[in-house]
Amino acid sequence: MDSPVAVVGGSGRLGRLIVQRLLDRGETVRALGRTVQPARRLLPPGATFTPGDVRDPATLAEPLAWTSAVVFCVEPGTDDEGPDRPEATLYLGLRNVLEAATAGGARPHVVLVSQLHATHRGHPLNAYGRVLDWRRAGEELLREWGLPYTVVRPGWLIDDHAAGDRVRLEQGDQGFGQVSRTDVADACVQALYSPSATGVTFEMFNEPGSRLTDWEQAFAALETDRVVVA
Ligand SMILES: NC(=O)c1ccc[n+]([C@@H]2O[C@H](COP(=O)([O-])OP(=O)(O)OC[C@H]3O[C@@H](n4cnc5c(N)ncnc54)[C@H](OP(=O)(O)O)[C@@H]3O)[C@@H](O)[C@H]2O)c1
Repeated sequence: MDSPVAVVGGSGRLGRLIVQRLLDRGETVRALGRTVQPARRLLPPGATFTPGDVRDPATLAEPLAWTSAVVFCVEPGTDDEGPDRPEATLYLGLRNVLEAATAGGARPHVVLVSQLHATHRGHPLNAYGRVLDWRRAGEELLREWGLPYTVVRPGWLIDDHAAGDRVRLEQGDQGFGQVSRTDVADACVQALYSPSATGVTFEMFNEPGSRLTDWEQAFAALETDRVVVA
């Protein structure tokens, strides 16, 4: 890509895997998160870390200026009130990120890491700060923003392939299962290089079987979202 890729939440467990994959492809990577020390210790060499809090637009302007792509993989809090509530990070925070990333007319491809059950208002998870409602609101905000985008809804994240090596992509938010962070990182990065991943939303799970090798083909089998992007 001809300008940097920003990974918001790039110091986290999933974010670091995404950062590494982008560096492996020769991209210039800007990782953002709130906490400096663990990030500098944990991030792969070659990534630039900038302290950035999605709730504070002043911290986002510089690292998100004129990027080719933005991956958003921020972990929300779970309280109903207070600065870390899901509304503040997953909705208002995402809006701050989109505003910073499109300043001056920039049009990065945005990959949003959401979660399974994002459309299930009555799910018990929604008792935690209405996290599912704010996930869904963030997804809708991104779809309507008019940028090229991909929404990835992982199942329960794990750090191994205990659920199997095969990746299953689904749509309709009816599935359930686990998925490895490495596969989700692959999906987030592959989406940036696969034309078929633009304007789609999908869930991800692992199951027994062989590893996915042709991501473009897997994305091409998905339905494009109702809101068509330019
Ligand atoms: N756990 C699951 O089963 C599951 C399932 C589906 C989807 N997900 C989602 O997948 C994503 C990645 O998960 P993970 O396990 O890799 O999370 P993680 O290790 O907790 O990493 C979260 C990242 O978000 C950053 N962050 C938190 N608040 C922030 C803020 N206000 N501004 C900027 N950065 C902020 C953290 O850095 P600082 O703390 O330094 O800010 C960290 O880099 C999250 O969105 C998560 O909700 C998780």
